[in-house]
Amino acid sequence: MSEAIYAELKNTPAYVRGAERARQNKAPSRSTPLGSVAAARSSGGSRRDMAEELRAQDDLTAERFGTVYYKPATVAGIDLKLEPLQPSIGTAVHGLDVAEHLDLDDPDPNAELVVFLRTLWLQRRVLAFRGQGHLSRQQMVQFARHFGEVGAQYGERQHKPNSPHILGHQVAAPGIPDMLILPSDEAVPGAASGWHADATWQQRPPMASMLMCREAPPIGGDTCFCDCYGMWEGLPRETKERVASLTAVHVGNVGHQMDGKTPASVHPAARTHPETGRTTLYVQQGFVRKFADEHEVPEDEAHKLLLQLKLQEGRPEYTCRLRWQEGTIALWDNRAVLHTASADFWPHRRTMERLTILDFNEARRKPYYAPPGETAEAPSD
Ligand SMILES: [Fe+2]
Repeated sequence: MSEAIYAELKNTPAYVRGAERARQNKAPSRSTPLGSVAAARSSGGSRRDMAEELRAQDDLTAERFGTVYYKPATVAGIDLKLEPLQPSIGTAVHGLDVAEHLDLDDPDPNAELVVFLRTLWLQRRVLAFRGQGHLSRQQMVQFARHFGEVGAQYGERQHKPNSPHILGHQVAAPGIPDMLILPSDEAVPGAASGWHADATWQQRPPMASMLMCREAPPIGGDTCFCDCYGMWEGLPRETKERVASLTAVHVGNVGHQMDGKTPASVHPAARTHPETGRTTLYVQQGFVRKFADEHEVPEDEAHKLLLQLKLQEGRPEYTCRLRWQEGTIALWDNRAVLHTASADFWPHRRTMERLTILDFNEARRKPYYAPPGETAEAPSD
């Protein structure tokens, strides 16, 4: 499947532009982590020399060894092994064959196994399913439908980017318009490096995202996730009180433009999770630019406060790291975790497929904040 993706990628303007740098044998740009990690790992020289040196370093032999700790669970007659990736977030679910154990033709959100997975997902916020590479793209869509309504490439259907600017090198999947293919190779490397939740510049950002790894580097390219409950709990009380009264402006990139307008949305800086009722810190470096003007936060305070909030991102205690293998699917809760790719895998290929998932319950799609103890209904618009 990857070969077809790269054959298609070679026709896109971003690839043609990136490939020119490769044709000139120039090292990948150090202004991105992919280039700076490659420079740090190699003894320099031409691009081809660097790629050869790193490939030799990464010529690894596969073998399983060591001990894996897990919780056993039997659900709908299936023996599962639940391996925590870290104490607070992330669980790898072993023993599940999505195509065999779920009725993909009947995406029943009330099926015993789906209810179990959804409950686990709300607790752990990131689920990983290994060994699902036999699923077709269409079957991945059918799997996602058990958890919510499959969204467009960036969630809400009303938003159809038609930007003249090129956003990385994302490719549409033929016949599956809702899917975004995220390829990276030696000639045109790229990865969504930087903490963010997907498409929070939308009025109703996608509840969840699902990512399938079609081709994994031998090492590197992990996706890291950060717990937004932990980010909130880690703030001093006075900061929480201040932040709870503020909203923040989330701005998309030029590549997300629609009809010449860069999309932006205002969301509460503290967000109530509409299913668990818990508070998350809903501020991230990826898309949050400032607090909303209406609050008139003095510039000096705004600068310090945003920095304080963003410094919560990526603390080791709040994060887990998912090492991809071909056929790994991850499902995460954009309302309660941030994520970032680890852009350290050049010159290897990394080929991913992404779907966004919207809450079945439309009333829960728009972010809101209700102080703990106050029962507030999620706004309906
Ligand atoms: Fe993302």
